[in-house]
Amino acid sequence: MSLKFAVLISGGGTNLQALIDAVESGHIPAQITLVVSDREDAYGLERAKKHNIPSVVLKRGDYDSAAKRDEALAQALENHNADFVMLAGYLSILTETVVKKYEKRIINIHPALIPNYAGKGYYGDKIHTEVLQNKDKATGVTLHFVDTGVDSGPIIIQERIPVFEVDTLESLKSRIHSVEHRLIVDTAKKYCEGSLSV
Ligand code: GRF
Repeated sequence: MSLKFAVLISGGGTNLQALIDAVESGHIPAQITLVVSDREDAYGLERAKKHNIPSVVLKRGDYDSAAKRDEALAQALENHNADFVMLAGYLSILTETVVKKYEKRIINIHPALIPNYAGKGYYGDKIHTEVLQNKDKATGVTLHFVDTGVDSGPIIIQERIPVFEVDTLESLKSRIHSVEHRLIVDTAKKYCEGSLSV
């Protein structure tokens, strides 16, 4: 019986698309059983629909607290028999309810070399803009297990990405995205094959 996993998103879902393509090609021996978004306008929801993957939107505003929303999330994950969870641009912070229930079974991707440019408020273009402003010679991508902190769980893999003087926000982002898509697929595959090390 192949593993089932859920993918949590908040935006465009290019990482989700990479996972969908890798599952459909058989590269990842698993099935995406659910896509969850905390934003109803996330384009990633369109991607899920196109590939007949069930999705649910759990908006922050619809719940009295993060804990209450996470109870709904835990229920959705259970209803869809998710064995593990990939966070692919999910901007809400998971609370104890879900993190404990899926201990060492939730993996997040972060577009920087944690601990650099990580933690509360560090996501998306803010990271890449600061990397460029600081004239860093390199940035990178990190995949890690999720704990109740922000970008703070045990690191699984990191890949360094050079930053060139001629880089613009767009050129840097596109180089980061292509590394992300490879790493998130590779990490999900390794998780399914039981060959992930921390
Ligand atoms: C990616 O940069 C990822 O590292 C970060 O959020 C972004 C999601 O991009 N966590 P997309 O929605 O997968 O295109």
